[in-house]
Amino acid sequence: MKDIIDKFRSSHKDFKYLDSKFDQFSNPYDLFEIWVENAIEHKELEVNAFVLSTVGDTGQSSSRVVYLKDIIEKEFVFYTNYNSKKSKEISFNSKVSMLFFWPKLSRQIRIQGTCVKLDEKYSDAYFESRPRSSKIGAWASNQSDVLKDVSELEDRIKIYQDKFKDHIPRPIHWGGYKVKPEYFEFWQGRPSRLHDRIIYTINDDSWDKHKQNP
Ligand SMILES: Cc1cc2nc3c(=O)[nH]c(=O)nc-3n(C[C@H](O)[C@H](O)[C@H](O)COP(=O)(O)O)c2cc1C
Repeated sequence: MKDIIDKFRSSHKDFKYLDSKFDQFSNPYDLFEIWVENAIEHKELEVNAFVLSTVGDTGQSSSRVVYLKDIIEKEFVFYTNYNSKKSKEISFNSKVSMLFFWPKLSRQIRIQGTCVKLDEKYSDAYFESRPRSSKIGAWASNQSDVLKDVSELEDRIKIYQDKFKDHIPRPIHWGGYKVKPEYFEFWQGRPSRLHDRIIYTINDDSWDKHKQNP
């Protein structure tokens, strides 16, 4: 393990500390949009990937990466299997957190909120837009269940390929969720650990804003 730690120390770190005046925004969505644009301009990989954390009935948190696919009426949308571990945890406890990390810019955004299933019409439309192979995958994969052998999954893929020659409907076990944010934290790394932290908390229909010690 010591070797790995030494490798971390010598690994490449080339941050860009953007000097944007981001404390001027009264609305976290405007700042979110600008940071997404900055991340794209600076060629961050997987800009729309975020870590979704959930807590189920055991009280143990679990995290995984998913893609932000839309923002509908200020709610953050991702798609997944409704029988998966994350979905079971969300149905037990709808409070989730989201984390975007854009290393080149030394930035992270933390969001906390309440997660519910998306209206079926959006899931239908998004599913329809996906490539055939992804649609088949959604039918074939029992996400988060034990897979005894890869051949099991390959067999299931074959079954659905044969079953759906033409149109592939959205499986009932697959669809979107939307997260309604109640808390945002924008973190900008700075040299000498004088990092900026700007917190937005919801207050009825408006947002309160304050800074926090790094
Ligand atoms: C970059 C990236 C993007 C991913 N996007 C999704 C996604 O949008 N939806 C999804 O269900 N899983 C996605 N995954 C896979 C999840 O991280 C995870 O393995 C899967 O959802 C099962 O999680 P669970 O067992 O905790 O429910 C992605 C993984 C990576 C690394």
